[in-house]
Amino acid sequence: AKRYGVIGHPIEHSRSPQIHTQFASQFNLALSYERILAPLDGFSATVEAFFKDGSGLNVTLPFKEQAYDLVGPRLSRRARMAGAVNTLWLEEGQLHGCNTDGVGLCSDLLRVGHNPEGKRILLIGAGGASRGVVFPLLEAGCEMLHIINRTSAKAYDIREQVVALDPDASRRLSAGGLDDHCGDWDIVINATSASLNQNLPELPDARYRSNSLAYDMFYASEPTAFMRAAEQAGATHSKDGLGMLVGQAAASFQIWHGVEADVEPVLAKLRQDIG
Ligand code: ATR
Repeated sequence: AKRYGVIGHPIEHSRSPQIHTQFASQFNLALSYERILAPLDGFSATVEAFFKDGSGLNVTLPFKEQAYDLVGPRLSRRARMAGAVNTLWLEEGQLHGCNTDGVGLCSDLLRVGHNPEGKRILLIGAGGASRGVVFPLLEAGCEMLHIINRTSAKAYDIREQVVALDPDASRRLSAGGLDDHCGDWDIVINATSASLNQNLPELPDARYRSNSLAYDMFYASEPTAFMRAAEQAGATHSKDGLGMLVGQAAASFQIWHGVEADVEPVLAKLRQDIG
């Protein structure tokens, strides 16, 4: 069977093996999918060793930027726009890289009935998680994307990097500090790491439009602190990021195997497992 895996540090909590083996069983594909712990100073050596007989790797924290550097010129447009790689494979002996986090988010927004097209979107946070979804949200046709961050300089930096690669983005993309959120929003996305410790970002008292969605990129067995606060502040709906996790996995699966896996049963099973 072909070998796949996910590489990170730490890695023991990764759900990817479970997700990919369930996708594989939908197509009767024989494959193995391992968790691979790379030493913090040994990412590229571990990748090289894996690809002696391996077929594909997902990359998770803290190595997505290193994976980007490792792939060099053979990056997909999405990886270039994200500045990070989460999916690696070989083509004619050469390492290739893509980033499926943003498509994972966009497909999950569609799945829950909030197509980003034509929407005003507020994105909170300016780390790697945020950078990875900016271009796909623009590509999905949002009307306006406003990035805000505690450290406003990092939000301006993301805007500048994306506009440098795609000048057309400048009209629809803006940035500011956490309290800079004038206007009202259809979709508000938490991409800060603050949810991890149930610790809210200094929540802007954002104004929500009707039929709005608050989306937390993180997930838990219970609605996250961000989701609860957003609903109290007037968001019509709230969702956590479990669907984004399965969505990015499905997009990687499609790159590797050329088929579109069914997300719903895998997501339902995962929701049971974390509950
Ligand atoms: P990741 O790659 O997961 O995005 P990161 O690069 O460490 O992780 O970024 C974490 C993000 O969460 C940043 O936007 C950070 O804000 P700063 O850039 O100002 O540090 C944000 N963040 C973390 N804790 C926060 C908190 N308590 N309130 C507001 N923002 C927070």
